[in-house]
Amino acid sequence: MIKVLYKKGLKPILFKTDPEFIHDAFVTMGQKIGYTKPGRALISSMYGYKGPDISITVDGITYKSPVLLAAGFDYNGKLAHVLDCLSFGGDEIGSVTARPCEGNPRPRLKRMVKSKSLVVWKGLKNQGVGRIIERLKSVEKPEGFIWGISIAKTNDAEASTVEGGVKDYHYSLKRLVEENMGDFYTINISCPNAHGGESFAEASRLRVLFEKLATVEHNKPMYAKMPIDAEWDEFNDLLTVLDEFGVHGVVIGNLNKNYSDADFPEEAPEEYRGGLSGKPCFEHSNELIRKTKQQWGNRFTIIGCGGIFSAEDAMTKLDAGADLLQLITGMIFEGPHLMKDICVAYARRNEQEKQSPEEVKMTSETVK
Ligand SMILES: Cc1cc2nc3c(=O)[nH]c(=O)nc-3n(C[C@H](O)[C@H](O)[C@H](O)COP(=O)(O)O)c2cc1C
Repeated sequence: MIKVLYKKGLKPILFKTDPEFIHDAFVTMGQKIGYTKPGRALISSMYGYKGPDISITVDGITYKSPVLLAAGFDYNGKLAHVLDCLSFGGDEIGSVTARPCEGNPRPRLKRMVKSKSLVVWKGLKNQGVGRIIERLKSVEKPEGFIWGISIAKTNDAEASTVEGGVKDYHYSLKRLVEENMGDFYTINISCPNAHGGESFAEASRLRVLFEKLATVEHNKPMYAKMPIDAEWDEFNDLLTVLDEFGVHGVVIGNLNKNYSDADFPEEAPEEYRGGLSGKPCFEHSNELIRKTKQQWGNRFTIIGCGGIFSAEDAMTKLDAGADLLQLITGMIFEGPHLMKDICVAYARRNEQEKQSPEEVKMTSETVK
């Protein structure tokens, strides 16, 4: 019923309105509702998972659900106190940067409806690490809910050199650690929309970055947000550097820069204006997850991200080798019940594994 209401009632109206306006309106509404007990109870009653325990411990952190909100939706941490009501196990807040960022000029978000994708050219709009830390300090953290913080470099000329970029990432990480804010950190090395491009998604520069980040002492898991359209050799070189620095895992991965990967490329802007989310990321992400698992076994925690639109898609990512999941676009296209659906399928998968541990893999048929 709730699903039909969203898809047939609300979505057609929402999809006629400017996507950035809708995004901001939902964040403001969610933030306000989350401050009230009845508001939280109402959201939980509709979208909260209430089945058997599906908690999972990864790198010493216990998540109540394996589904996290990917970086870019809650970029100022305004929903960090309410997302647990939507069956999320955690929120990857950000990407945050050392200085506030206004983002790229509008329009910077476009729907590609037939291709099930968004063209994202936000340019790391956020209020800056200092302000976001203050906000997170001011709200009550839901019990057992995990806050990851994604760190990128400020989208300005000062941070566009290698030296400036390293300084920028280092400043944000240091501030977060000083304030003991966040349960894990993800270093976003692959934003396709910032000043100076993806300058740290290249092995030698990545090494320079992590040499500096390694000087900040802390005991929280560190992940790297990986590019999704890199060739395997290039991708594997990045993994080799991350291995050298003891980085715990990788989020695979970021937006897809290649418009021809969309099912209906004619929906894309004529000239490059940001990376694609959603379906054009799905296969690339799965392929890189599989290869990472094949090559590196359990060395890296893998957070599978890109194009999850159903419980079946989520199970495909887990089958490929993901330990945890992240999403944004599927929630926008399918509705806020998606995370609960995934939790239900995940519980069934766990049950099946217990009954027949030999047949660990769940086929898509079982999920339907
Ligand atoms: C509106 C929007 C903003 C995003 N901003 C960020 C960001 O700031 N940092 C980041 O690491 N990824 C960002 N991403 C990429 C997502 O985290 C994710 O990698 C990508 O959208 C693929 O997942 P999806 O298909 O479930 O949306 C953004 C995505 C969207 C849709």
